[in-house]
Amino acid sequence: MLKHYLKILEKYKTPKKIINHSLGVYRVSKLLVERLGKEGFKIEKQAVLAAAILHDVDKIYTKKEPQKHGIFAETILKPEKINKKVLRIIKNHTASIILEKNFYKSSLEDKLVYYADKIFEQKICSLEKRIRNWKIRSNLDVLKAEKLLNKMKKLEKEILQKANITFTELENLVS
Ligand SMILES: [Fe+2]
Repeated sequence: MLKHYLKILEKYKTPKKIINHSLGVYRVSKLLVERLGKEGFKIEKQAVLAAAILHDVDKIYTKKEPQKHGIFAETILKPEKINKKVLRIIKNHTASIILEKNFYKSSLEDKLVYYADKIFEQKICSLEKRIRNWKIRSNLDVLKAEKLLNKMKKLEKEILQKANITFTELENLVS
């Protein structure tokens, strides 16, 4: 499965750095899915893993219109016959979506990939560090950064609690 999705990334000229990031998000997601499964949560493993590896397939094509990131992936992936659930998870992974009112009502699959994406850039890192880097790089407004971090911390708490794992354990397992 992984090989097939990696081929899709290569087909659409995904840069090495994004492939490395996506593989990290895949590893974090896989671990969390397994833990959640052990804790009795019903979670669609295949959809999560496919979305984790493919979530940035449109990144280079939406650079000038970042508001289309996550949405344009659907157009790219149409000929690849990727199922709707995977497309939905991809659409819901972009950072600002957490500021939407109904985000916490999203499925566990959506929330898991969202979270995994935020704690793995080129290696696993805390949400605080990720937001700090992002603020510097993209000139992110201080208030928005704070709001994002608060919401992400709330999500982190929910996921780690459900998966019965601490961030340090996760960090050790993924590094
Ligand atoms: Fe990503």
